[in-house]
Amino acid sequence: MKTTNHITRRRFAGGLLQAALFAATAPNLVPLRLLAGDTTPGKRIQLGHIGVGGQGTSLLNNFQNVDAAVSLAICDPFRQRREAAGKVVTQRRQVVPKLYNDFRELLADPAIDAVVIATPDHWHVPIGLAAVRAGKDVYIEKPLGHSLAQNQAMLAACQQHRKIFQYGTMQRAEEMVKRCVELVLNGYIGDLQRIDAWAPAGQGGGSLDEIPVPEGLDYDLYLGPAPVRPCTKDRITSKGSWHCADYALGFIAGWGAHPLDIAIWGMDSDKKGRTSFHGKGTVRTPNALFNTCSSWDVNARFHDGVILHFMSDDVAKPVVTPYRADNWENNGTTFFGSRGWVSVGRGTYAASNPDWFKLKQCAGHHRVRYHNKYYQAFVESVRDRTPSVAPLEDALRSDAISHLSLMAIKTGQEVVWDPRKYQIISPAGLAEQMHTPIRGDWLQS
Ligand SMILES: NC(=O)c1ccc[n+]([C@@H]2O[C@H](COP(=O)([O-])OP(=O)(O)OC[C@H]3O[C@@H](n4cnc5c(N)ncnc54)[C@H](O)[C@@H]3O)[C@@H](O)[C@H]2O)c1
Repeated sequence: MKTTNHITRRRFAGGLLQAALFAATAPNLVPLRLLAGDTTPGKRIQLGHIGVGGQGTSLLNNFQNVDAAVSLAICDPFRQRREAAGKVVTQRRQVVPKLYNDFRELLADPAIDAVVIATPDHWHVPIGLAAVRAGKDVYIEKPLGHSLAQNQAMLAACQQHRKIFQYGTMQRAEEMVKRCVELVLNGYIGDLQRIDAWAPAGQGGGSLDEIPVPEGLDYDLYLGPAPVRPCTKDRITSKGSWHCADYALGFIAGWGAHPLDIAIWGMDSDKKGRTSFHGKGTVRTPNALFNTCSSWDVNARFHDGVILHFMSDDVAKPVVTPYRADNWENNGTTFFGSRGWVSVGRGTYAASNPDWFKLKQCAGHHRVRYHNKYYQAFVESVRDRTPSVAPLEDALRSDAISHLSLMAIKTGQEVVWDPRKYQIISPAGLAEQMHTPIRGDWLQS
């Protein structure tokens, strides 16, 4: 199968045709002012959405609630999905967005200010790089890159092009998560000693039986930088993109991103100097489609002596339930200090002193950047050129923990990382794996 690293005339014409056909179905609903690109002061931020499966559609719905933005373009190699997403925008905002099969055509549209990327993981950085090079600000779903080198390239590109980046770690908009982090930063728990972070274990299974590529799917563009494999019914689903190693590191990164993001929000131990990772993990079904690490138990020792215990929920249960008792859930982050502990998960919280969480504003001068409306926060950053509430620098930090944890599991050895040099120190030769090969030259597009 050939790569699709150029825009074919057929694809380009197809994109225009689809947009025209869709527009023709509701001609009276198109505010021409918006489609032409609005340059008046106070204009709405004009968004493009790239990847509108489960999460992309959820984000699309959330962005329809943001008055200061309007969704003018949608891209997905599944025709039915981009058409369905277009209808959402038309119903919610009486706007007919342009529909694209190929993200490069969407990125070539100067009317688009910023893009929301919710593709499978293997596309996050290739499309993110192309977007910032095309002058767009980016909201990118977690996890970040397929390799540590991809993450570094993304940071360099964002800095060079001065683009806003917001990460898909929306629990940063949860009030109790913010309180937890500010309690830690302002010394309520005393000196930080240990962090537990845990996330749902990955799944096994997934069919390897080939099926015909479904009508309406540009499979080559779906695979993009990933290896060419026969299409199967599970490969082209959310679970395929979460648990298959062709596209993802697995939940050690995909779900781990959330509790690790809270961990790095509340500490700077990971930035101070060399960190060593050691741990073990298992792949539930190595010969099936879902072949990523499903269960993990990793300890990272930071330069200042703080230890991060990063676990899948099956491993975490006996560790966490003694102090989180009834509401430990399948994900969370707990900070332990010399004077107590605080813990949060998605919608859950607990502390050694429950009164701490009752404080709307804790004492001390450390305040985090916070917005209780996560999607509006992105639009305001883009509009006002203000710092992101979930910046790329933080995404690199949390994602590095996932990559290095997995490397420690795979090698069975202690992995030593120097965050200041952004470099693997040992074992010898492992630094080469900061780059993982991809199909085609998608990092250059
Ligand atoms: N923040 C969260 O809590 C959260 C929750 C779920 C998923 N996610 C993330 O969102 C991403 C998508 O997950 P999902 O569950 O929606 O998967 P999904 O498979 O339902 O959706 C991915 C979509 O991307 C499309 N796509 C593939 N290649 C593309 C390309 N070249 N250009 C444009 N679109 C392309 C697919 O056709 C599909 O429609 C993943 O990275 C996942 O980790 C985040």
